[in-house]
Amino acid sequence: MRIDDIIKNRKTQKVLANEPWSIDSDQKKLKKEIDELLDLAAYAPYHKKCHTHYSEVENGLDSCVPWRFYVLTTKNCRTLYHYIAQKDIKAGKVSNMLAAADALLLVTWLPDPSEAADTDGKEESQTKEPFPYTGNVRNMEHIAAASAAIQNVLIGATARNIPNYWSSGGQLRNLLLRQYLEISLKEILLGAIFLFPEDAASRNATIKPGSMRDQGKEKPTWSKWLEL
Ligand SMILES: Cc1cc2nc3c(=O)[nH]c(=O)nc-3n(C[C@H](O)[C@H](O)[C@H](O)COP(=O)(O)O)c2cc1C
Repeated sequence: MRIDDIIKNRKTQKVLANEPWSIDSDQKKLKKEIDELLDLAAYAPYHKKCHTHYSEVENGLDSCVPWRFYVLTTKNCRTLYHYIAQKDIKAGKVSNMLAAADALLLVTWLPDPSEAADTDGKEESQTKEPFPYTGNVRNMEHIAAASAAIQNVLIGATARNIPNYWSSGGQLRNLLLRQYLEISLKEILLGAIFLFPEDAASRNATIKPGSMRDQGKEKPTWSKWLEL
């Protein structure tokens, strides 16, 4: 496919299953594909390095890029599904998608620490993501760069015929699941990227499109040629 066609073919596909599917995708192929998708993320543009305090976190991810990717294989999607059920967390569609997903990529962006967090030492007892984060150009550009990394992954997944969906993440943002996933609350979840089996449409599942798939396609409503 031409790159233009791949971009236009990228679409939200929320694959919802009522019961967890067995792990029947070729896991070796899947891991190779995810590895390729992470390579695409690495080529996203970014303008500012993340704050140096992220190189000191204990998860071993000390890159200067302002995003982090946490990958759950099919088995781990199902483990998370069962954990959510066991803890009686009302995760809604996230649970249905964990039942169907081949993989989940949790993507965070790394806000510059606020001065308040720096000085009063509150970070250790953080119980939620740092909202409101500081509204400055650096943080705006961190989000923009992390978004570009996510879009690279979605485009790559589409090119590989992997049905995909960028979700805000819902309950995956909250303390209990973040502790379980061991993803620091200093980081802010930007996207929970669900990757589904290629043959999802022929399985026992409901597939929901993006609610705004057909809106906003009229270029003159959001673009203008400037004549000076
Ligand atoms: C930052 C971001 C977060 C999103 N979060 C959700 C979400 O939580 N739930 C949802 O139904 N769709 C979510 N979407 C997907 C949009 O609904 C979808 O992109 C939109 O309806 C357009 O459809 P399309 O992706 O098929 O073009 C999100 C998209 C973006 C960019």
